[in-house]
Amino acid sequence: MLWRSFVTASKQIRMSYFNYNYALMRKMPKSFEKEAIRMDETQEVDFVKARQQLDNYKDALTKLGLEVIDLDADEEYPDCIFVEDPAIVIGKKALVTRLGHVNRRGETGPIKEVLQNKLQLDITEMKDEYATVDGGDVLFTGKEILVGLSARTNEKGVKTIAETFPEFPVSGIPVHPTVLHLKSIATMLGDGVMAVGGSSAAKEMFQAVKNKSKFNYKYVELERDPSANVLYINGKVVHKTQPELGDNDYKKLLSNISGDRIEVCMDEMYKVDGCLSCCSILINS
Ligand code: GLY
Repeated sequence: MLWRSFVTASKQIRMSYFNYNYALMRKMPKSFEKEAIRMDETQEVDFVKARQQLDNYKDALTKLGLEVIDLDADEEYPDCIFVEDPAIVIGKKALVTRLGHVNRRGETGPIKEVLQNKLQLDITEMKDEYATVDGGDVLFTGKEILVGLSARTNEKGVKTIAETFPEFPVSGIPVHPTVLHLKSIATMLGDGVMAVGGSSAAKEMFQAVKNKSKFNYKYVELERDPSANVLYINGKVVHKTQPELGDNDYKKLLSNISGDRIEVCMDEMYKVDGCLSCCSILINS
């Protein structure tokens, strides 16, 4: 009986890392359409559709009970809607990053201001001028931090994360050159459950995740990489729509979700390597 209470209590403590009451987002600048950075430069964004998708995403977070703080757009920073990259928030601590792409470095100012002054988080700023981190590379599992070593995030960045969050094991995961971020192919679908993509690049990265993780997870292996980018919030899941996922991934995701779920289409964001996790910072304050 006592043991059962202990297990329940420790699960609740862990669960609390996925319980949020705020989401930080940023409005879409007009420059997003033509100037947002993209790995495939032939991709053309439909601005009206993209902005509608971001609005739908905001509505989904609101439906889940989060208060959304929606910062103004900044035309100077076409990628500024991808607020996941300029800061990593775990519990009451926030690391304001030195972004991997030099053109995005000025995105941090308003983010830091809200995290520090409105949400009263304990802020660390990256000081090492050679260290870089994009939040899209930082996968917090509830027990440890897996950090993609990518074109955007380097070893010194991983070291800064380990220094900022010494209470968690931190491991670097090599990111395949065809993939932008670690979270482009893996996110948490539930407490102890990780969704992972199925491309050959994702499979290589997944092997490193399995080798380097300090804890065991249930892995939900999907066919398409974008299917693996979901949001797990307060026991509920936000995922993409059936046409984006394909029938097999859609079925597999649904069979692995026990709580409520909301579908949000992100296909315009995907043209510029954006996904669900990129467009918010989830906070419990
Ligand atoms: N377009 C997202 C990024 O390159 O950071």
